[in-house]
Amino acid sequence: MDSAFRPDLLAGKNAVVTGGGSGIGLAIAQAFAAHGAHVTLVGRTQARLQAAAQGMPGATVFAADVRDSVAVARLAAAAGPTDLLVNAAAGNFPVPFSAMSENAWRTVIDIVLHGTANTCRAFAPQLRDGASVLNIVAGYAWTGAPGVSHSGAAKAAVLNLTKSLAVEWAPKVRVNAVSPGPIDGTEGMKRLADDLGLRNELEKSVPMRRMGRADEVAQACLFLASPAASFVTGACLVVDGGQDARGPFGSLLA
Ligand code: NAP
Ligand code: COA
Repeated sequence: MDSAFRPDLLAGKNAVVTGGGSGIGLAIAQAFAAHGAHVTLVGRTQARLQAAAQGMPGATVFAADVRDSVAVARLAAAAGPTDLLVNAAAGNFPVPFSAMSENAWRTVIDIVLHGTANTCRAFAPQLRDGASVLNIVAGYAWTGAPGVSHSGAAKAAVLNLTKSLAVEWAPKVRVNAVSPGPIDGTEGMKRLADDLGLRNELEKSVPMRRMGRADEVAQACLFLASPAASFVTGACLVVDGGQDARGPFGSLLA
């Protein structure tokens, strides 16, 4: 997709994207790099990060588990003064709450909530004046999340953390969330749609009548990262084709 933004939108900006080795995080990293930012891709798998960085101008990689606060502190030291921090790293798998082991619960909460808190804490002293933090959440952060209660609880907490930090860090740093709807071709949709045979139902639940594309989420992130969003903080930008807007009668009357 051609960008709606000018190519030097993020020239000279230093960006860090956790989960930048694949899926939505990778699309965000690619968009930031294509608009002039120097991007550090973060994930657990060095080979995946290196493959993702191929052809991304000026990209560097840093292998770290966001659950490991010591590794995340090393990441922040290596990245240095930072303008853009994106928390896209996540883990998720469908399992009913009553069948979920304690460790399964803890694992997802650790990656999504504690991982996001770890990067925010480590990068706080590194964030430059005018910096922007983006936390990737999901629509079930403000509904319920049957089948993925661990992820729902964690994303709801991240959405709340987003607002708390937006207030604490204003006016120096803006902190916003982005909530993608179902995004085609991602690991998330493989697990939550394809593996469960729910793709058709899911597509029907979106008023735009299709899944979204990762680059459509990335364009929303470009806006929030840019000076065009200079008065936007503590917000959640929903990029879901209208899925959340359906409300309780949407599926009955549409
Ligand atoms: P994905 O490709 O699996 O992205 C997750 C990334 O996080 C991977 O690159 C993974 O790399 C990294 N990661 C996982 N655990 C990590 C850890 N402990 N430390 C560091 N990195 C870690 O999935 P996706 O579907 O694109 O999801 C990206 C984000 O969008 C997630 O926050 C997800 O909740 C959100 N989201 C997705 C959808 C969707 O439709 N896909 C909808 C709403 C929200 P390694 O395994 O190499 O570490
Ligand atoms: N159903 C039920 N429990 C599951 C599960 C599933 N599909 N997958 C993992 N678990 C449980 C494990 O059994 C384990 O619990 P136990 O010790 O009680 O048996 C616990 O979750 C941790 O699993 P483990 O494989 O050790 O965790 P990990 O840290 O190596 O990997 C995951 C993290 C499980 C989240 C893994 O799926 C992952 O790396 N995901 C990243 C990609 C992703 O999820 N993308 C989608 C983002 S929306």
